[in-house]
Amino acid sequence: MKKNKISKNWINKQKKDIYVRQSKIEGYRSRAIYKLKEIQEKYTVIKNGISIVDLGSAPGSWSEYVTRRFKNTKVVSIDLKDMKPINNTFQIKGDFTLENNQQKILEYFNGKIDLVISDMAVNTTGNKSVDSLVTGELSLEAMKFALKTLKKNGIFVSKVFMGSSFNQIVEIAKKNFKEFHIYKPPSSRKESKENFIICKNLRQ
Ligand SMILES: C[S@@+](CC[C@H](N)C(=O)[O-])C[C@H]1O[C@@H](n2cnc3c(N)ncnc32)[C@H](O)[C@@H]1O
Repeated sequence: MKKNKISKNWINKQKKDIYVRQSKIEGYRSRAIYKLKEIQEKYTVIKNGISIVDLGSAPGSWSEYVTRRFKNTKVVSIDLKDMKPINNTFQIKGDFTLENNQQKILEYFNGKIDLVISDMAVNTTGNKSVDSLVTGELSLEAMKFALKTLKKNGIFVSKVFMGSSFNQIVEIAKKNFKEFHIYKPPSSRKESKENFIICKNLRQ
């Protein structure tokens, strides 16, 4: 399919999408907000007053949701792309996989973190296998970071793709967390291979 035909299809799909419409009505930057909201409604991952890292945060609807709905949360958001400011959020523009950026996050919190949420995904190349492979690696990187930085009763939520990294991430979750769930929120597009992993309570 030609590129301009793909983007026309994308625009038409967006216009019909109830989550896109709802996000506009509620003043959120992206339909992605409903994925986190649905995860929250099912698994209660966010509470008032906690420290949160939002990985792959742009354009910003997850950080908006957290800071609007929960009082006194301390949020660091990081993305490769520019993101307009959000109240009560410390924003880093850069690659999360770089050591110096991970260091900046830790310095900001000056201690351990309650919740790591990751919606990181590569910009689509058009090749779904390549995209899910690279996004899978980002989920693994987010998991490694969570294992190093979470409090004992901390929570890790991440986008995962059905693909080679999926079994790997499930194995790590089994080994390191007392509880984990794989969930596809109703707002996640059916044709997408995306799911979310929700991990609670470190084993040690
Ligand atoms: C699906 S979007 C996130 C949407 C966001 N949760 C929201 O609610 O607005 C995925 C984001 O991951 C970011 N991303 C991909 N690789 C990254 C990396 N290595 N470091 C930081 N961000 C990354 C992309 O730039 C993109 O903005």
